[in-house]
Amino acid sequence: MDTYILAIESSCDETSMAVVKNGKEVVALTIATQMDTHALYGGVVPEIASRMHTEAITLVLEDVLKKANMKMEDMNAIAVAYAPGLTGSLIVGIEAAKTLALIYNKPLIAVNHLIGHIYANNIEDEMEYPMLALIVSGGHTELLVMEDDYTFRKLGETLDDAIGECYDKVARVLDLKYPGGPNVEKLALEGRHTYTLPKPVMDDTYNFSYSGLKSAIINLVHNESQRGNEIRRADLAKSFQEVAIDELVRKVEKALKETKIKRLVVAGGVSANKYLKEEMQKLCDKYEAKLLIPRLLYCTDNAAMIGAAAYPLYLKKEFSDFRLNASSSGDIC
Ligand code: KG4
Ligand code: ZN
Repeated sequence: MDTYILAIESSCDETSMAVVKNGKEVVALTIATQMDTHALYGGVVPEIASRMHTEAITLVLEDVLKKANMKMEDMNAIAVAYAPGLTGSLIVGIEAAKTLALIYNKPLIAVNHLIGHIYANNIEDEMEYPMLALIVSGGHTELLVMEDDYTFRKLGETLDDAIGECYDKVARVLDLKYPGGPNVEKLALEGRHTYTLPKPVMDDTYNFSYSGLKSAIINLVHNESQRGNEIRRADLAKSFQEVAIDELVRKVEKALKETKIKRLVVAGGVSANKYLKEEMQKLCDKYEAKLLIPRLLYCTDNAAMIGAAAYPLYLKKEFSDFRLNASSSGDIC
């Protein structure tokens, strides 16, 4: 029998719901983004985000059910992202999920947002194990080994800023609009790698560090403008992008070499980046490894990935009770 999960995602500035069949088929997906509003402030304002989720959530539910041509009664379970993210934003999705589960007497499934990003790779492809998983989002930079479904071992993570956060900060000093990542990528297309920037981390662990790179760029822009010198913005964007992503490539190469694992999935918003995709593909070709990166729509925040990640929990009957609460930090392991 087929399983239909209504999935809810509201961890940051997207209110999203999806109906996902058997953890793979996206029957319907609705994403209401608040991006234009937060762009006015140069970044996500948490208080505004929660309020906009509250305004959007019932409309998003109505829309996704209409698109799916289904009713709440047709759902087998309700899944919701409960961590990590902005607490006030997560709560809106969680309360909606609890209410629906209570009214329609459906099991409630709590999904970690980062695990959702990984399982986005199961929507149009099939994850096989063991595999390496690189999470690159606005709040996280982590390299994991998955020996099996829902089995995680962390190799390393960022010691300070996440790579997405760094993209957003660099965008700001380059006067680019929020969200920074796509705009830095676009500007970098017109530039050359002419600036010498510090390498993120020189050590031999699997950890990352992006705060030094970020500060170096902020200082460089500040110093040049004080001297009245012009910044070659496209060149700086390109130089930053190459240094930031080459570090990811270096750590993933170390993992491919040392673990001998032949599969890599890349997950999270920064996986939308074309340079990252190309470099990871070259690396996987070199090590004869299979690379999975979700389609653009499933790279950034969306509820379909929450439905995909909820399915194995549904099969194992790992349900939550109504005490489920939001958590801003959401360590996978
Ligand atoms: O996964 P995501 O949508 O939200 C979080 O869970 O954080 O990731 C958002 C991050 C932002 O920092 C954004 O600037 C970055 O992903 N991003 C990109 C690109 N698209 C989104 N970074 C680099 N290149 C892109 N094309
Ligand atoms: Zn995300």
